Amino acid sequence: MQHIRLGKELAQTDFGSDPSWRERIDELTNYDEALVPDYEVPSPLLKADGSKVRSAFDWVNFRRPEILQLYKDEMYGQSPPLPDQVSYQLLSCRHDALDNTALRKEVRLHFRMRSGKAHYIDLLLYAPKSAAEKPAPAFLGLCFKGNHACTDEKDVRMSGARQKDPELLQEEMRGTQVERWHFRELVKAGFAGVVACYHDIFPDRADGWQDSVLSLFEDLQGFRGSHQYYTAIGAWAWGLSRALDYLHSDPWVDASRVAVHGHSRLGKTSLWAGASDPRFRIVISNNSGCGGAALARRMLGETNIVIANAFPHWFVKPFRKYIANEENMPFEQNFLIALCAPRPVAIGSASEDLWADPKGEFLSGAHANEVYALFGSEGSGTFTQPEPGKYHSADISYHLRQGKHDQTAFDWHHYVQIAEKYFFRS
Ligand code: GCU
Repeated sequence: MQHIRLGKELAQTDFGSDPSWRERIDELTNYDEALVPDYEVPSPLLKADGSKVRSAFDWVNFRRPEILQLYKDEMYGQSPPLPDQVSYQLLSCRHDALDNTALRKEVRLHFRMRSGKAHYIDLLLYAPKSAAEKPAPAFLGLCFKGNHACTDEKDVRMSGARQKDPELLQEEMRGTQVERWHFRELVKAGFAGVVACYHDIFPDRADGWQDSVLSLFEDLQGFRGSHQYYTAIGAWAWGLSRALDYLHSDPWVDASRVAVHGHSRLGKTSLWAGASDPRFRIVISNNSGCGGAALARRMLGETNIVIANAFPHWFVKPFRKYIANEENMPFEQNFLIALCAPRPVAIGSASEDLWADPKGEFLSGAHANEVYALFGSEGSGTFTQPEPGKYHSADISYHLRQGKHDQTAFDWHHYVQIAEKYFFRS
């Protein structure tokens, strides 16, 4: 297993100053199921002292907080505090959006500190017209390319400026990710759809710290790489929670019925947001892969050595001790799914997205079943990965879409079905 040997050899190397290591990513990566090492998926129910959790009471009060703390200390970082002052500014409001089928508003979330430091995030929100009388359940997620990329409506404000990438703010960027957001269809099905750009919370680069919301709480001028306590993923998840705070005050949205969703690195983020903030009623991971739903120990596709060096700002410094050392992690990604129990979780994979290890994404859900069982739920109810193109709907749902790394209408149909089941029928 050449990829594993090479990883161990390079584990202590500091890649930060040497971009040439990227050329070795192929050598470090395995896509062959036959070369997956023998591994054992740890049980989330096994406590640090060797005893086993036997009741939901024990899980909720003792084991869950222990695992949450482990993830904060070793992977996603601490949850940032609340700013001294939070206020909401309505930037625009229309009752004739999406060809007169929807309500739409843009809202700025202002965060201010007594020190004078300030930061804001812009939300774009669509809701069905009926929401004017009766609040609608919502899908909330972050986007890569600015709110203006998620809609074909040309008068939506551009966002994402903190990334300082002029391409994001070009007119041509408008509407380029409409399928990923599915707003017209969501509204038709009776849901609100809410988005903010992740760069506005933490610009996604190793030196994004000083322009991030975290700089409200600490002087991060000139800081780059991994921080001991905070991460970009933690900041993005924090942003989702602050957006949910806002939704509690929005009369168009029923904030007790919000599904958090995200694709890829933002799927890692939605899982962490859902795991750390139980107010999210459904948690959706789309192609989240390594550091998201995929089991780390399988080392198929992306592994810790690649992710931690390519994206040092995503994880805390202590995570580096698990580079090429996946087998000794005191947790596994089935723990992350288990933290959401007994709330519904949906995991979506894509057949050509081996980088994200679809089978590993499925298995982490199945290996959370024993925690769901404490609540009388079957979880996924199966250890057999569903056929490509089939929706497996359960408290832990799964599907393997045929095709590439993306969030498409096929993925959305499943997520909408699940939200209909839990938000409208139970
Ligand atoms: C890279 C990265 C993945 C991530 C993906 C994305 O491929 O290695 O971990 O999920 O980008 O966010 O699109």
